[in-house]
Amino acid sequence: MVLEILQVGDPILREKCSPVTKFDGKLCTLLDNMKDTLKKAEGAGLAAPQVGVPLRAVVVDVEEGYFELVNPVFVWQKGEQCGPEGCLSVRGKVGDVVRPSKVKVVFQDRKGDKYSLVARDFFARAVCHELDHLDGVIYTDKAQHVRNSED
Ligand code: CO
Repeated sequence: MVLEILQVGDPILREKCSPVTKFDGKLCTLLDNMKDTLKKAEGAGLAAPQVGVPLRAVVVDVEEGYFELVNPVFVWQKGEQCGPEGCLSVRGKVGDVVRPSKVKVVFQDRKGDKYSLVARDFFARAVCHELDHLDGVIYTDKAQHVRNSED
């Protein structure tokens, strides 16, 4: 089911999200709905607070594949890249953000099983952007030269 994506100004986007503790049907429904919502919006990532649920869960859809990260935590971050970024909660805008060029995260899947992944380049950028959402941070807090995306 496609959900409504909250827009900047909504206080839920500024919450520090709580860890997921129940790996149940409700979590599966949330992740399924987040996937549907992300695909419909043709975005690279979506965090649970963007659909009104202040829990530590994100979905990322990039060239490397589709990933569901529950309770993601950085193990390390390396290097630096600067590039344009947008957000489904900040419609019509883009800004340049400095991010690490390579990150490692540990996370759980929808069943609660633990995994890790290493992401580079745009994938790393997407992971960093989504993890920020879990702490109430929006890319425009960090971006330089936020502009209309049509410009
Ligand atoms: Co975003």
